[in-house]
Amino acid sequence: MAEQTPTVSMDKIVSLAQRRGFVFPSSEIYGGLSGCWDYGPLGVELNRNIKAAWWKSMVQDRDDIVGIETSILMARQVWEVSGHLQGFTDPLAECKNCHMRWRADTLTEKKCPSCGGELMAERMFNLMFKTFAGPIEDDASVVYLRPETAQGMFVNFDNITQSTRKKIPFGIAQQGKAFRNEITTGNFIFRSREFELMEMEYFVKPGTDGQWFEYWLNERLNWHVKYGIKREHLSILEHEKAKLAHYARRVCDITYLYPMGWEELEGVASRTDFDLKQHSLASGKTLDYYDDETKEHYTPYVIEPAIGIGRSLLAFMCDAYAEEPDKDETRVVLHFHPAIAPIKAAILPLSKKENLAAFAKDVYKDVRSNLMVQYDDTQSIGRRYRRQDEIGTPYCVTVDFQSLDDKRVTIRERDSMNQIRIPVSELRKTLTAKLEGEAFLVLPQGGEVVQAKGK
Ligand code: GAP
Repeated sequence: MAEQTPTVSMDKIVSLAQRRGFVFPSSEIYGGLSGCWDYGPLGVELNRNIKAAWWKSMVQDRDDIVGIETSILMARQVWEVSGHLQGFTDPLAECKNCHMRWRADTLTEKKCPSCGGELMAERMFNLMFKTFAGPIEDDASVVYLRPETAQGMFVNFDNITQSTRKKIPFGIAQQGKAFRNEITTGNFIFRSREFELMEMEYFVKPGTDGQWFEYWLNERLNWHVKYGIKREHLSILEHEKAKLAHYARRVCDITYLYPMGWEELEGVASRTDFDLKQHSLASGKTLDYYDDETKEHYTPYVIEPAIGIGRSLLAFMCDAYAEEPDKDETRVVLHFHPAIAPIKAAILPLSKKENLAAFAKDVYKDVRSNLMVQYDDTQSIGRRYRRQDEIGTPYCVTVDFQSLDDKRVTIRERDSMNQIRIPVSELRKTLTAKLEGEAFLVLPQGGEVVQAKGK
């Protein structure tokens, strides 16, 4: 039985995110714009690190997947043919009294949750944002902001096979903005109107789609665990056949135990040959594959893992969050995996005195040429450790007066609070090794353990 108690409240995450510069409401000085968010200095680093970790596992570390970046605006026919104009809808219920609008399938009672008024008959509401391309605002110039990046991969299928000579099975991966005019938004960045997607279309021989579906579900589950989500906070939810999207044969959600309960983190879909066939028929351009070993022509089937970066970022923040006793106080820590931590190390001089500051600045400049680091010389060392723990910085490097003589610095590990002292000449290499997984107490030449009684 899956665990049912979230480990942190949404209020704590939202407050930390805003206070420390991870996420702000969009256009906040004007009261905000519902469903839109801005990423602050730490949020943007976290976001980029998540994208890099996904790209590494999906593209860089594999021979069978290539990347692409397609435009947000696409020909209108794309959305007619893909079925989105007709079917990318949610059921909408409007109150006869206060005219508030609700997603009908989320209501527990058949009355307005705001004023208790009677609801009008349900209708389907299309989630695509509409705009105009060019200076004339007429029907012919209507275009849509893409609600998924996937179609950019399907319409480029032939370009990719021709230019890369990839053999099936192979995939095309993309990261980019998507827009959905959600009827209701909420739960912080969980359901937004503008968000970033990471999607991969994996083209396979018909008949092998079942096994590839299992493969990708497993791969993606392991990816979340590899980068820090506890396995017991992840679950798999199989979609009922009757409720599948118009293009899907099988869909499983990887769900996460968010503060509001179990919700979809990522979707893995078996999209059959629906999209390639539809675009072939409508465009007149054959989008199929010639297998030169079996001498067969066929339209590949597609397995698609798709995840919103905001949902991933929120899950990583929630799962990393901890409040731990530290001496007589409680420290708040984000136990981020080093690969996704926004700041990898902080350089902390024990005093602002000129000779020490000059030395510490040199250390800082040397390390930052390799890694994202912060320099902090304000307030007590204890407070500075706390600030770095709270944003998930794996290592703090203290520079003290003795450093001027022995040219050594002390590194404190965030999770164990153990400390080692090493030659400054070894710092860059040592930090890089630790960030890549070397045990903290493994020392470079000339190093010593200062404190090893942390947990
Ligand atoms: N191409 C398939 C597709 O778009 P989806 O299940 O509609 O599938 C994929 O969306 C992922 O995008 C979801 O698993 C979720 O992580 C994210 N997502 C969907 N709607 C979102 C929204 N309104 N705000 C933030 N993320 C969203």
